[in-house]
Amino acid sequence: MAQIIPVAPFDCVVFGGTGDLAVRKLLPALYHRYKDGQIPADARILAISRKPLTAESFGNFVDEKVSPYLEPGELASEVWARFRQKLSYVAVDGQGEAGWPELQAALAAPADRVRVFYLATAPRLYGGVSHRLRQQGLIDGRSRVVIEKPIGHDLESARRINDEVGDVFTESQIYRIDHYLGKETVQNLMALRFANSLFEPLWNSMRIDHVQITVAETVGLEGRADYYNTSGALRDMVQNHMLQLLCLTAMEPPQALSADAVRDEKLKILRALVPLETEGANGSVVRGQYRAGAINGSAVKSYAEELGPDRSSRTETFVALRLAIANWRWAGVPFFLRTGKRLARKTSEIVIQFKPVPHSMFPSSAGRLAANRLVVRLQPDEGITLRLMTKEPGPGGLRLRSVPLDLSFAEAFSGRFPEAYERLLMDVVRGNATLFMRRDEVETAWAFLDPALQAWDRGSEQPKPYVAGSWGPAAATALIEREGRTWHEELD
Ligand SMILES: NC(=O)c1ccc[n+]([C@@H]2O[C@H](COP(=O)([O-])OP(=O)(O)OC[C@H]3O[C@@H](n4cnc5c(N)ncnc54)[C@H](OP(=O)(O)O)[C@@H]3O)[C@@H](O)[C@H]2O)c1
Repeated sequence: MAQIIPVAPFDCVVFGGTGDLAVRKLLPALYHRYKDGQIPADARILAISRKPLTAESFGNFVDEKVSPYLEPGELASEVWARFRQKLSYVAVDGQGEAGWPELQAALAAPADRVRVFYLATAPRLYGGVSHRLRQQGLIDGRSRVVIEKPIGHDLESARRINDEVGDVFTESQIYRIDHYLGKETVQNLMALRFANSLFEPLWNSMRIDHVQITVAETVGLEGRADYYNTSGALRDMVQNHMLQLLCLTAMEPPQALSADAVRDEKLKILRALVPLETEGANGSVVRGQYRAGAINGSAVKSYAEELGPDRSSRTETFVALRLAIANWRWAGVPFFLRTGKRLARKTSEIVIQFKPVPHSMFPSSAGRLAANRLVVRLQPDEGITLRLMTKEPGPGGLRLRSVPLDLSFAEAFSGRFPEAYERLLMDVVRGNATLFMRRDEVETAWAFLDPALQAWDRGSEQPKPYVAGSWGPAAATALIEREGRTWHEELD
């Protein structure tokens, strides 16, 4: 059973409290923390949007919209009824004047507590909402603001958002959320590396051949065409989640598990990334876009068809990259990243491919010696697999085989795994920013990717087509195979 430490009474004000993120993730996450006894009785949760809802109609809205994300029957429970008492609603226009006095009145007493302002709205509202919060006198030293991705669509726009929010809140009050960092398995990456003495001596270019990071989705646009078509895979996945995974995999051991010690080490990795080669046959980036195909036996439309009959687009729904980190530990070790929609299987994983043994003493009849491989599965079926060479049992000559040593978290730990947002929301209340991105990390990641985005905009090249249900365009296979390596799903 996980240990639950209740937090001090707090107010959580969710701007965009009727939006998709709030109903799918934030309200269920707060409910689960309340159910587990982590949220005290006098904490308050206020949802904000422009809709003119009464207390009753908001309550009905929450019941209807949140219930699909709860366990069956939960809505009728006494705990849910008590949780609903904590929720209130105020109609406020984040960009206008309406509703601010009412919000001020709702927060008037008690004033001496942590106040979390969660901005689950479009990023263009972040600056304006922050300024109005200050104008209304709603911010003090104990206030915190949470902002969601995307923080900009390039370096310049990210700086603008950071300046606007930073004009009102100090850096230590700003929590830039990347929900990947709240996943249990991602935090486990730090435990694996720094709570065991086994791997760290091997974690370098002497012993590691290359690293692969894959975030594959089977879904397509899911009704978010307007957002995704102006974003694409590089902005949506690589700039934040995947570069963060890369940092946690590659960083030096932080001196302590404190926010700045961890973020300093991640920043050093981002700064050490070798600029991407976007042009020519030896380029380090492959872009793709899905055509019609089939996933799990069901036919799926092409990206262009999903967008609608009149819409053609050069937006990439897949990207594969070869990255290099110019530092002592990682010189010569390529990091291959790929992510995409409508791929063969939903999976997120980090693969550490070790180098082969320097010399084989076994006869060729014993079989091929496969190099060791460590696979950290972030989802689904969270766990860790280490592939080792072993002797097949029995007489009749020596035969060697690569077999998995498997740690499945579901088998090792009983009970429910909290969702990433549960952990992260409680971290904000506690004032622990370790799993949130600092301004310099976000901006350094954009500075690294901006040249590739600009080169694509300047050029006329189309993303490479791939069939929905495959593992991406042939060029992505070529990207890794031209160096004699292979994507993980093809190794087993
Ligand atoms: N959905 C996800 O899974 C997800 C994942 C990662 C990041 N995000 C980010 O989270 C943010 C919210 O996404 P979402 O999908 O929840 O968007 P959404 O479904 O469009 O919801 C937007 C919310 O903001 C409110 N809103 C809009 N304009 C407002 C204004 N002027 N004043 C006050 N409230 C206003 C809307 O209600 P009214 O129109 O009634 O005011 C609604 O409650 C975005 O930045 C998005 O990129 C979302």
